[in-house]
Amino acid sequence: MTAAANWEAGRRERAKTMLGAYPDRRSAIMPLLYLASLEYGHVTEQAMTDVAELVGVTPAQVQSVASFYTMFKREEVGKYLVSVCTSISCHLLGGDAVIDAVEDATGVERGRTGDDGTFSVERAECIGACGGAPAVQVNYETVEGLTPDKAKALVKWLADSQPEVVLADEMQQLFGGVRSFDWGPLESEGPVAAVPAFGPFGSAKEGR
Ligand code: FES
Repeated sequence: MTAAANWEAGRRERAKTMLGAYPDRRSAIMPLLYLASLEYGHVTEQAMTDVAELVGVTPAQVQSVASFYTMFKREEVGKYLVSVCTSISCHLLGGDAVIDAVEDATGVERGRTGDDGTFSVERAECIGACGGAPAVQVNYETVEGLTPDKAKALVKWLADSQPEVVLADEMQQLFGGVRSFDWGPLESEGPVAAVPAFGPFGSAKEGR
């Protein structure tokens, strides 16, 4: 019996489904890491050990995957992870002023989580929304065409309304400007996630 046998029942079922979806169990490492991070709050040492047991590799091999991708968080993050792109397009169109504004409004420095656990702030590499630069993600839901003032308003809205699930369309309508292109089905047509690999497993519903 693996340690993952103690995961919450729904997650155990999801893990089984994920493992069955790939001819080679190792291919499930990334979705399983995501699932484990929901179980433990972030990618802990135990989470990596669990995933290693599930797919039949060493914890070091799982760590080599987890440490490569910034979306696998190795520390607890706040309820709202605000990722501000400062790569070239966003940098040229004011991304640095946007992240300064986010730091001001949250009181949290980039790379940190506030003491009350509401906000984490990070600088992100290109998030694929260059046409709508400067772009920001909140819990990986994208909002484009921000200004420093709009970014501050976004933070205030999050702090005041504390939405359980953050939706890109809603943030875009309230705070966004120029947008690259439509991301796909409207959220009013059903739950979608900004990260397609996570969509079928309901990450938007889990709201982290
Ligand atoms: S450079 Fe910011 S989204 Fe591409």
